[in-house]
Amino acid sequence: MQEGIMQPHRAQWKTRMGFLLAALGSAVGLGNIWRFSYLCYKNGGGAFLIPYFIALLIAGIPLMILELGIGHKMRGSAPMSLAKINPHWEWVGWWAVIFVMFGIVLYYSVIISWCFNYLLYSINLAWGDDPNDFFFKKFLGLTSGPQKIGNIRSSILFSLALVWFLNWFIVFRGIEKGIERANKIFMPLLFFLTAILVFWSLRLPGALEGIKIYLKPDFSALARPGVWVDAFSQIFFTLSLGFGIMIAYASYLPRKSDIVHNAYTISFLNCFYSFFAGFAVFSTIGYMAHHTGAKFQEVIRESIGLAFVAYPKSISLLPFLPQLFGILFFTTLFVAGLSSSISIIEAFTSAVMDKFNWKRKNVVTVLSILGFSGSIIFVTGGGLYWIDIVDHFLSHYGLVMVGILEAVAVAWIYKAHRVRDYINHISVLHIGRWWDISVRYVVPGVLLLLLVNGIVHEVSHPYGGYSWITIILVGRDWLIYTLFAAFIVAMRPWKKTLHIE
Ligand code: PHE
Repeated sequence: MQEGIMQPHRAQWKTRMGFLLAALGSAVGLGNIWRFSYLCYKNGGGAFLIPYFIALLIAGIPLMILELGIGHKMRGSAPMSLAKINPHWEWVGWWAVIFVMFGIVLYYSVIISWCFNYLLYSINLAWGDDPNDFFFKKFLGLTSGPQKIGNIRSSILFSLALVWFLNWFIVFRGIEKGIERANKIFMPLLFFLTAILVFWSLRLPGALEGIKIYLKPDFSALARPGVWVDAFSQIFFTLSLGFGIMIAYASYLPRKSDIVHNAYTISFLNCFYSFFAGFAVFSTIGYMAHHTGAKFQEVIRESIGLAFVAYPKSISLLPFLPQLFGILFFTTLFVAGLSSSISIIEAFTSAVMDKFNWKRKNVVTVLSILGFSGSIIFVTGGGLYWIDIVDHFLSHYGLVMVGILEAVAVAWIYKAHRVRDYINHISVLHIGRWWDISVRYVVPGVLLLLLVNGIVHEVSHPYGGYSWITIILVGRDWLIYTLFAAFIVAMRPWKKTLHIE
């Protein structure tokens, strides 16, 4: 532990490109590949692209500008930036980084581990003729319900240790030597691998039928509120908004940085990546439907099944080098996932360093051990149920609530026009008054509507058909405990002086 109240020199990205790659590395993740494709499919094919794009414009981009803007202005992690706005709001920053670090990342790292296992299984197409049975029974050892925890799956535990080791190794080395360097390798690799997958899949027979389903709009889907809820929560998840990540990443930018341009670049490239990767997913599924004569609807049943059941099935059917295709696909997922998981570990680390002035190396080491241990619950036979429930509550409610609170703190307490003046002062691209209106009214209004709608729906049917007691103890309480933890940490005194601006 370091003593002293002086603000030490803050780490910085070496280049703007380094920052952009790191922010994109966080945004482009598992969510862009299987979650996005699945949501498109579930919500009426191409029709989902409309609410998705609207959500990007009316909530995604304004909030991206907001998060980058305050992180840059306050030069601090999420809790520090919010505390500088008003000390009573510090807990919001803590809540975000706590429930993401001790919630989302715990199960997210388990899914990255599955990708590693499947990368190895691709070598001999170990899933055989029944990938469904292989995934749920042999690989996950799925029990009959979330209360039945079952055994720890040792093969997953092994790759989980590898994932946490890599997380630790990269973040331990700091901003420039760790995160920036890793993303300079990861991101070009990811785009290259994805491009190979897309072009390869597009040449498969039946690919076009898949693409038709992907792009064919079904406008009637727009009338279902659920489609809009999915679009907004996907935008949050995919752009890593409400996680406290973009705030921390922007705090490492040099003083003169074009915030607006950066926000547009990250948001559009991220969504373009999803759209592009969707071609690989839909052509492969089209190929499978064509090959087996199955109806398209029978091919995809659930989101997890898309990557770990439907995809392996189509890989086995490939006439040419299926093993290589499998390795490419699972490596893509693995790299996309890892570059996202390191970003939240950094967001949490920077929050602890800001508040308590502890050394990076100690924080990252303790955090990685805690992260690995906490992930173990998701590696059990009941793990998939837990992933499903925790993911639903944290990404539908946690992220949305943080989005509302951030918008209120910045736009109402601090005042939107002050942040806009600051951003315009340093950016070449300027934002107009529309941004004030957006962060003052549109963003909190729309998000509140979604939240209320979600809660009403929640109370009428228990999520996923689980028992009420499970939903309350696992889903709701996960949010409540992390909220308590956030209040407790926020009440501790700052080891550094807060230069309130
Ligand atoms: N943006 C990531 C995705 O789409 C989500 C994420 C970010 C998850 C950071 C964990 C940590 O997959």
